Amino acid sequence: MIPRIGVVTGGGDCPGLNAVIRAVAKAAHRRGWKAIGILGGYQGLLPTQQTKVLEGDLLDGLLVRGGTILGTANQGKFSAKTGHGESRRLPVELLDETKRGCEELGLIGLVSIGGDGSLSIAQQMFEHGIPVVGVPKTIDNDLAATMMTFGFDSAVACATDAIDRLHSTAESHRRVMVLEVMGRYAGWIAVYAGLAGGADVILIPEIPFNFESICNKVGERELAGKHFTIVVVAEGAKAAGADYVTSAEQSQNREARLGGIGAQVAEEIHKRTWKETRCIVLGHLQRGGSPTNMDRALCTIFGAKAVELIAEKQFGQMVSFTGSQITSVPLSQATGELRRVPLDGGFVTAARSLGICLGD
Ligand code: F6P
Repeated sequence: MIPRIGVVTGGGDCPGLNAVIRAVAKAAHRRGWKAIGILGGYQGLLPTQQTKVLEGDLLDGLLVRGGTILGTANQGKFSAKTGHGESRRLPVELLDETKRGCEELGLIGLVSIGGDGSLSIAQQMFEHGIPVVGVPKTIDNDLAATMMTFGFDSAVACATDAIDRLHSTAESHRRVMVLEVMGRYAGWIAVYAGLAGGADVILIPEIPFNFESICNKVGERELAGKHFTIVVVAEGAKAAGADYVTSAEQSQNREARLGGIGAQVAEEIHKRTWKETRCIVLGHLQRGGSPTNMDRALCTIFGAKAVELIAEKQFGQMVSFTGSQITSVPLSQATGELRRVPLDGGFVTAARSLGICLGD
């Protein structure tokens, strides 16, 4: 019988998911294995399974195609996070059922492509005897134990392009333009795109901000004859002493939906400086479209490595990029604690030495 491996995508979509699926399927075929795509996230593993054999024409064009041909979910029975990132254990019966589903499919291994939430479920599955390996996905780049997740570079490219475009209106209309970017509780997208796009103010969750500091920067630029200011604010940034700003009612077994801080920052800047100010929320544009070259390469390497891990029976591991090599780490190390922007790291230091305001 031909060995079969499963591939599942979980959590929010992100550029590069299809590129990983393609790499996993191709590397599996080269070994004489069959790759089975699980549809609709982990839910598709439950008996009566929803699957699709990954072969032939189905793999055409996947390297550059956004989204996931398998579908995904970040809510429902398999959600592992609630509130502001609190972990949740899945009921044992659900894990039993999932294990039975994998056995019925005859899987020798399962590649779980996901972020913090989906990979913490993968860890629980592994503890329950399911032979799973992980591939780190998320535009937020907040997974511990890997220097980079795929999707992040594409999101930064999108946010940087937005900053470049906002410069025109900011300068022509002498306005303050506030761009709200995603990233959940980590400021990676804001800090990378802010540096790449030449933002004047970058607000990240790791550094609580105060409005005086932001408005002083706007004033300083006015005095220097620069009558516009670009502010990049991460959705998880918060004013000192304030709480996260959320854009929707909290629903059960789901993480809070962040959003709205950009509008608050814009309003307060306008009130305090009388400068015309606009807020732009970049939202899901950051998760859409074709992956960048960097992401395409990373996804291909990650997918191939995941298949290698299954061949070596190194279950419970996640593929990881150290900056110089591709290796693997226990899933337990990669989940649980988020990787946030270090305050003494190169990004924050560079921003400060260029006089970029970080809101403190
Ligand atoms: O984790 C990826 C991400 O895009 C976050 O940056 C953002 O907070 C969240 O997902 C949005 O999720 P949803 O698409 O469910 O609103």
